[in-house]
Amino acid sequence: MKVCVVGTGYVGLTTGVSLAFLGHDVTCVDLDEAKVETLRAGRSPIYEPHMESLLAEASERLTFTTDYADGVPGAEVVFIAVQTPSLPDGNPDLRYLSSAADSVGRHIGGDFTVVVNKSTVPIGSSNWVDSILREAFERSHGRKADGEFTVASNPEFLREGVAIFDSLYPDRIVVGSDHPRGLDVMNRLYRAVLNQTFTAPTFLPRPGEVGAVPMVSTDLASAELIKYAANAFLATKISFINEVGRLAGKVGADITQVARGIGLDARIGSRFLEPGVGWGGSCFGKDTAALITTAEEYHHDMPIVRAAREVNRQQRLVVVDRLLEELRILKGRKVGLLGLAFKPDTDDLRDSPSVDIARQLVARGARITLHDPVAGERFRREYDDLAPQLADSVEEIFDDADAVILVTKWDSYVDLDWGKFVGLMRTPVLLDGRHCLEASRMERLGYRYLTTA
Ligand SMILES: NC(=O)c1ccc[n+]([C@@H]2O[C@H](COP(=O)([O-])OP(=O)(O)OC[C@H]3O[C@@H](n4cnc5c(N)ncnc54)[C@H](O)[C@@H]3O)[C@@H](O)[C@H]2O)c1
Repeated sequence: MKVCVVGTGYVGLTTGVSLAFLGHDVTCVDLDEAKVETLRAGRSPIYEPHMESLLAEASERLTFTTDYADGVPGAEVVFIAVQTPSLPDGNPDLRYLSSAADSVGRHIGGDFTVVVNKSTVPIGSSNWVDSILREAFERSHGRKADGEFTVASNPEFLREGVAIFDSLYPDRIVVGSDHPRGLDVMNRLYRAVLNQTFTAPTFLPRPGEVGAVPMVSTDLASAELIKYAANAFLATKISFINEVGRLAGKVGADITQVARGIGLDARIGSRFLEPGVGWGGSCFGKDTAALITTAEEYHHDMPIVRAAREVNRQQRLVVVDRLLEELRILKGRKVGLLGLAFKPDTDDLRDSPSVDIARQLVARGARITLHDPVAGERFRREYDDLAPQLADSVEEIFDDADAVILVTKWDSYVDLDWGKFVGLMRTPVLLDGRHCLEASRMERLGYRYLTTA
């Protein structure tokens, strides 16, 4: 099928490259010329495992452009996957979506196009996008649209760091549509994923347990709400374990064992029950805020979601409190942070706990050093005020440090030769912000081992 993807960020690029890999003819449109140039050269502008391998495998069926005219006319499916960042009041900023929809509407041509909202958008946005498309179509074509397109909602659930895996082997595909033909087009588009009939890439073999993928077809509003509700639930699960974790610390219980003990209950499940500095990234904060503001429009309160956000906010402060309790004085202390990306296997720094923690330490007069195995370059570009504190090596983080905080659970940190570094520190305080190191081993090595619990 001829497919166009508007926006080649974490979601759009993964969608475009995966669909091309599955055999569709895909044109990716992005306004960012530098990004398009990088992609044309076969390189990925984001750090995402397997992205460049899949790009290479799918290159014959992939085109990157800044011009909508190259991709939209004649496409059976046009995805809109532009960013929808939070505004200060919690509502998502829909400028990018509105501008993308306007450009798509102007360029629509051909028999029938399904315009798919893949961006996470507030409930009701599909109707709004439909009206933008209609107006743009009318302006450019000089007549009213008459069945040339329909709008569908196909929320994305990929996790950065395993985005390609999630796109080829998803738990489910959700499609909201009020149009039988639209639904049929989406079914055809995803058939190879739904039935798992494609030949798996050598670098990402199909896991044994993956069978047919369920397609959840809904009305538009339900699809939009599914996305927000899924993220709010996952965020709540993390905040729940962190709330219990703080109590565990007070009563002398081990939150890691508690999490295992409750997670083995199939009704609860062990995933997203990892205690630590809490969630970050571009989605949970933004989507929980948007859910609350949407609910407010309907005079509906969402106290559980509000509490999940508040616990997460406090969790970043807990890190600083732990250090204060331990070191008494933070002024002049040297504190090293391991990890800047909001989670491992990505270079995404949006709403990263590290940045908040670093700023709070600086505000209390601490001297900080920062390290990340992958996100350093992006950090230099996006946070010029903190960039001078970037260290070139892990050694620098430990060298003369009064404390080191493990913020991002990169494998390379977990597998560090911890015994080698303890002697470099002035005081060997190690705060494991992800509860991922073995306490007894760290203590044996000479660390004063702390966690967020
Ligand atoms: N990142 C994730 O893990 C994730 C997961 C699920 C859903 N989402 C949702 O997907 C959407 C996209 O997120 P992302 O992380 O990929 O964003 P991103 O910022 O990485 O990418 C957005 C891209 O869209 C481009 N763009 C902006 N306006 C454009 C326009 N008018 N025409 C063409 N290109 C344009 C930008 O240049 C950028 O490359 C958001 O709504 C987000 O909430 C993200």
